[in-house]
Amino acid sequence: EISEILAREVLDSRGNPTVMVDVLLESGAQGSAMVPSGASTGSREALELRDQDPSRYRGKGCLKAIAHVQGVIRETLVGLPADEQSLIDETMCAIDGTENKGHLGANAILGVSMAVARAASMDHDLPLYRYIGGSLSRILPTPFMNVINGGAHADNNLDFQEFMIVPHGAESYGEALRMGSEVFWTLKKVLSDRGLTTLVGDEGGFAPSLASHSQALELLLEAIREAGYEPGQDVSLALDAAATEFFKNGVYTLSGENRTLTTASLIDYYEELISKYPIVSIEDGLSEDDWEGWVEMTRRIGGAVQLVGDDLFVTNTRYLVEGIERRAASAILVKLNQVGTVTETVDATTMALQNRMGAMISHRSGETEDTFIADLAVALGTGQIKTGSLSRGERLAKYNRLLQIEEELGDQAIYLGLENLRRKMN
Ligand code: PGA
Ligand code: ZN
Repeated sequence: EISEILAREVLDSRGNPTVMVDVLLESGAQGSAMVPSGASTGSREALELRDQDPSRYRGKGCLKAIAHVQGVIRETLVGLPADEQSLIDETMCAIDGTENKGHLGANAILGVSMAVARAASMDHDLPLYRYIGGSLSRILPTPFMNVINGGAHADNNLDFQEFMIVPHGAESYGEALRMGSEVFWTLKKVLSDRGLTTLVGDEGGFAPSLASHSQALELLLEAIREAGYEPGQDVSLALDAAATEFFKNGVYTLSGENRTLTTASLIDYYEELISKYPIVSIEDGLSEDDWEGWVEMTRRIGGAVQLVGDDLFVTNTRYLVEGIERRAASAILVKLNQVGTVTETVDATTMALQNRMGAMISHRSGETEDTFIADLAVALGTGQIKTGSLSRGERLAKYNRLLQIEEELGDQAIYLGLENLRRKMN
């Protein structure tokens, strides 16, 4: 039974305020959680309530969201059972009363939702992944590590937002993490040997200015080889184009390469990249407003690579249903704060998996040291997670938590590499 709920402003990895919630139970158990925040957000995401008071935190304060937690949410939830997650989440949605959680704020609601799950897991004396997923939860996710940052996450000229390495050839998650680290450090040397900057972007990947996206992919291949791995066999590549960001007036403008592309010619471009490089997954290859294009892209290249919808689905079954019906995308990106409750996040993930789509659990570019998503990935058995590069503590916190889970599971732990993706591709 919930006995008290506290909330406060804390800072995220960009130094912006966010919501932290503590939930206390009658039994003495308690759980805390911190809410992440995106930069390249989808327009259909649940609303992140900011104070808009320019005299504090450049308008980004979260005092209103916190007042909602400590006011109406606290008043309503105190006395309810913490292990009735869907009741708790539905109750908050009902008080909010809007489609996009714009009244209470998705940051207020999600902070409570996550902290309630944690408190309940403590109360049941279970690790969070086991509390959410049950005793069958033992698949460690393949990490998608964003080692070159572009787009809205860096000051360089790369239009594609994320260039990821995928160490799927590992025997275990722990080995995959080591391979990722080795490639990351080799990439640093590859960049500095060329006089390129090794400063990092928001997600901890390097952020050099480069001549083209192909050059970024070439540098990754070089780093993989120099680290002693075989591209495509041990370590493959993945992209998040975050194409909503460069879609305007019906066309895609790659300013770094000085090119404007139609939907069809951007798909041609992906086809060319897939034929040249061992790319296994492309996220947001097209804009959230280009549904026709998504159907076409999935028809054309959905058999060769996983196509992940991030802005397209915003972790919401309402849009995912449409994707399943129209055969747009072959996987969903899963971000708790896009939809705003643990229950709805689990629902969207489950719907995707039950419909033979992939699901990749994801951080946001503005993160905290909260490791909830590491447990969530194991709980839901998605087999895929992206939580940044091999630097920046808020990214490593998740990777390190997964090491701990793998150790705890011992020989029960399963690492699938790419099997998950292959099973799902049409
Ligand atoms: P965001 O980026 O958190 O800034 O939205 C992550 C992503 O686009 O996948
Ligand atoms: Zn994305």
